[in-house]
Amino acid sequence: MPITIRQIGPCFAGEVAGIDLAQPLSPENAEAIHAGMDEYAVLVFHGQQLKAKQQLAFTKSLGPIETSLGTSLRAETDRRLPPNFADVSNLDKDNKPFAVDDRRRLFAIGNRLWHSDSSFKPVPAKYSILYALSVVSKGGNTEFADMRSAYDALDHDRKEQCEGLICEHSQIFSRQQLGFTEFTDEERERFKPVRQSLIRSHPSTGRKSLYLSSHAGSIVGWPVPEARFFLRDLVEFATQREFVYSHKWELGDLVIWDNQRTMHRARPFPPEEARDMRRTTLAGPAPTAEQVA
Ligand code: OGA
Ligand code: MN
Repeated sequence: MPITIRQIGPCFAGEVAGIDLAQPLSPENAEAIHAGMDEYAVLVFHGQQLKAKQQLAFTKSLGPIETSLGTSLRAETDRRLPPNFADVSNLDKDNKPFAVDDRRRLFAIGNRLWHSDSSFKPVPAKYSILYALSVVSKGGNTEFADMRSAYDALDHDRKEQCEGLICEHSQIFSRQQLGFTEFTDEERERFKPVRQSLIRSHPSTGRKSLYLSSHAGSIVGWPVPEARFFLRDLVEFATQREFVYSHKWELGDLVIWDNQRTMHRARPFPPEEARDMRRTTLAGPAPTAEQVA
């Protein structure tokens, strides 16, 4: 049986039925998922029962995986999950929720700002695949904003103004916005800014979209306050409710989103409750802008 997809978001986001992701992915269904991603940008699968190994296998059957090394404040000895998983939970390695003042938790609050995954890497991410193994009693939705519809809705002058602009992205910029400013020298080196185009064309559909992210902290050649305001203004425009799908998580949900044409953010939830979210990520095809040597 081939999968079926029903639109659930305002201008994007689809819900997929008819597939058990724990089973090997058939070439037909892999193709249908890629086609669905090109059409909807966010796909929701309910009722999945996946071990880490099965999530990895599913991910790899969609394309090359991105390494998660060096992107969080978790030490290697702190790992709950196999390599190449981004542990997006609020749990330590004994599966206990972080204390409210834990540095790893405070850093992760950065995920509550609108962003696109790995926009701080020279080759940013393609799809993110997030699986919910335990959910909270209230809050904790993930919201997605359609950057293609947002681009389309910009007026002519604004489109022209954005064309050709290059932004610098770093996790230091996103954390700075929340007053998280203490980084070690090693972390500053690891989180060095990278360059990304502000407008990008989608590798498969050719459609243009805004490439925004809270990691973007400057525009090459612009004074910083002007750049920050310009980017903030664009984010405000691009995240109006008409462009947003809010996902309320149920146990066993798996959501795939295309970082090349969406932003997302986590919503707050009770910190003492376990929210076990496991992300695998597909590598993007190429840099969006030349890097400085
Ligand atoms: C992520 C992320 C949001 C959430 O996995 O990249 O930003 O709601 N997650 O946990
Ligand atoms: Mn994210």
